Amino acid sequence: MSNKKEQDVIQVGNLTFTKYINAAALEDKVQEIADSIREDFHEKYPMFLVVMNGAFIYAADLIRKLDFPCELNFVRIKSYHGTQSTGKIDIYMPPNIELKNRHLIIVEDIIDTGNTMASFIPELQSYGPASVSLTSILVKPEAHMHDIVTDYPGFVIPNKFVVGYGLDYDGMGRNLKDLYQLKE
Ligand code: IMP
Ligand code: MG
Repeated sequence: MSNKKEQDVIQVGNLTFTKYINAAALEDKVQEIADSIREDFHEKYPMFLVVMNGAFIYAADLIRKLDFPCELNFVRIKSYHGTQSTGKIDIYMPPNIELKNRHLIIVEDIIDTGNTMASFIPELQSYGPASVSLTSILVKPEAHMHDIVTDYPGFVIPNKFVVGYGLDYDGMGRNLKDLYQLKE
């Protein structure tokens, strides 16, 4: 067993994870997405809406690969899990934000059940934007409970818990450069 292999297994809190997608592969994927977004929006002065906290690393990497005028704002969305299946969420938008007739691009870390986007996208539509698009560095289609289309998807992954590249387990692991998957 080489040392390198052993570093691919890490502990986050009480759980064990194995390296799943390395930083170089993540960067290549972000470049592909940036190229697609450039093609569609370079003349449209889009506004990126970054969903805190998980999407902060992806958003930082993504917008630094764009060479055209754009704006960026952060939104915080709290969803209620557990017994309640109403899909109710609380949305915290920046005050005085003007979304009417703007091309909005939501930036997410992962589309899992899709509950968050199933509530957030209609809420954004009510502001009268020119368009609403969604990008997420990770998509878990097997977990989707709604018909959510991720216009600019990164990696399509199985329904297993992941940490790193901004995503956390119980608040930990956001700083990991690579993405790790829960070890069976
Ligand atoms: P939703 O289920 O699509 O509404 O996703 C809600 C949020 O749960 C995502 O934006 C993530 O922040 C978080 N989440 C979902 N799956 C994972 C995971 O595998 N690791 C870490 N966070 C996750
Ligand atoms: Mg999130």
